[in-house]
Amino acid sequence: MQKASGSISILAIESSCDETSASICVDGRILSNLIASQKIHEQYGGVVPELASRAHMQNIVPVVDGAIQKAGYALQSVDAIAFTQSPGLIGSLLVGAQFAKSLALALGRPLITVHHMQAHVLSNLIDDPRPAFPFLCLTVSGGHTQIVLCKSPLQMEVIGETIDDAAGEAFDKSAKLLGLPYPGGPLIDKYARTGDPARFSFPEPQIPGLNFSFSGVKTAILYFLQNAGKSYVFKDNFLASEEERKAFITHNLDDICASIQARIVSILLNKLKKAAILTGVKNICLAGGVSANSGLRKAFEEMGAKQNWNTYIPAFEYCTDNAAMIAITGYYKFLEGNFADLSVTANARAVW
Ligand code: KG4
Ligand code: ZN
Repeated sequence: MQKASGSISILAIESSCDETSASICVDGRILSNLIASQKIHEQYGGVVPELASRAHMQNIVPVVDGAIQKAGYALQSVDAIAFTQSPGLIGSLLVGAQFAKSLALALGRPLITVHHMQAHVLSNLIDDPRPAFPFLCLTVSGGHTQIVLCKSPLQMEVIGETIDDAAGEAFDKSAKLLGLPYPGGPLIDKYARTGDPARFSFPEPQIPGLNFSFSGVKTAILYFLQNAGKSYVFKDNFLASEEERKAFITHNLDDICASIQARIVSILLNKLKKAAILTGVKNICLAGGVSANSGLRKAFEEMGAKQNWNTYIPAFEYCTDNAAMIAITGYYKFLEGNFADLSVTANARAVW
C-alpha cells in the first residue's frame, strides 16, 4: 500500500521487557501489531535480563518485517519511527532504541520517543468506543501499578501508585509460592475460575490516600502456605511439613487462587473508586497486562455499573506489552511535532 496524501503513518517498536513487538499505525488506526513472546524465561521463574536482550536481537528484524508485511505497507512510506525509550530493562530497551534510530537515519524520517506507561494508558484510544477526556486509568502491569488522570492524550498525572510491589508482581510472586511457573498471573486467573473467593481471607493493607501496597498480602500468603492454611500469621509452632504444605496446595489450589485474586482485585478497585470520588471523573479505564485478568475485568464492570461510570478496557492484545500502544502514542506526539534527536538513548528509569 502506498501512503495516501495527508495521512500520517508511524512504525513503532516495543522492547522494554520480554516481548519484541512492532506495529504500523496510519492516522491513529492500527494496521498491524506483531508480538514475539520469549518463552525462555519460564524455566527461571522470572525474566532474565541478559537472555531477554539476546532474544530481542534475534526477534527484532523478523518482527518489524512481519509488521510491515502484515500491514501491506511500504517501509519507504512510513512518516516516523516511534520506540519505547523508558522505563524497562536497559539491555532490552537498547535493542529497540538502536534499531529505531538506525531505521530513522536510513529512511531519513523523524524519531519519536515513547514512555511505556503513558502508552499503556493510551491503549484505550486504539479502538472504539474511546473514552472522552478527562479520564482515569488504572494501569496494572508486571512492573507498575498506577492511577493516572489523563486530561488530553499527552497530558497525564500519576495520582496514585504502589509503594512496593506492582499488582502483576503480587500475582506472579503468589504463583511462585504455589509452585506455578512464570508468569503466574494468567495461571492464578485460570485456577480462580473454578475456586471459591470467599474460602480464605487475606488482609487488606491500610495505606492512606491513593497509593497501593502489596507486600503485606504477599507475606500473609507466604505464612499461610507455610502453615498449610492454618494461619496467615507467622508462628513457629504452626509450621507445616513440606508434604503437608504440598498436599494442602494440591487439594485447595482453585480456592487459594480465587481468594488471592479476590484480595488483589479488591485492593485495586477500592483505590480506583476513591480516586473517582476525589476527582469527580466518571470515564474510567483499565490498562496493562493485569487488566487481562478475568476477575478484575468482571469486578471492574460491576463497580462501574454501581458507580455510574463509563468503563473502558482495551482489547486483550493491547493489554499486555505491544507496539500498537507505542504507535498510537507516537501518532499523538507526531501531531504535536514532538520529535527526538538521533542522539537520544534508552533510559531504564525515566521520570514520567
Ligand atoms: O503490561 P505487561 O504485559 O508487562 C509489563 O509492562 O510488566 O504485564 C505483565 C504482567 C505479569 O505480571 C503477568 O503475570 C500479568 O501481567 N498478567 C496477568 C494476567 N495476564 C497477564 N495477571 C493476572 N491475570 C492475568 N490474566
Ligand atoms: Zn507494560
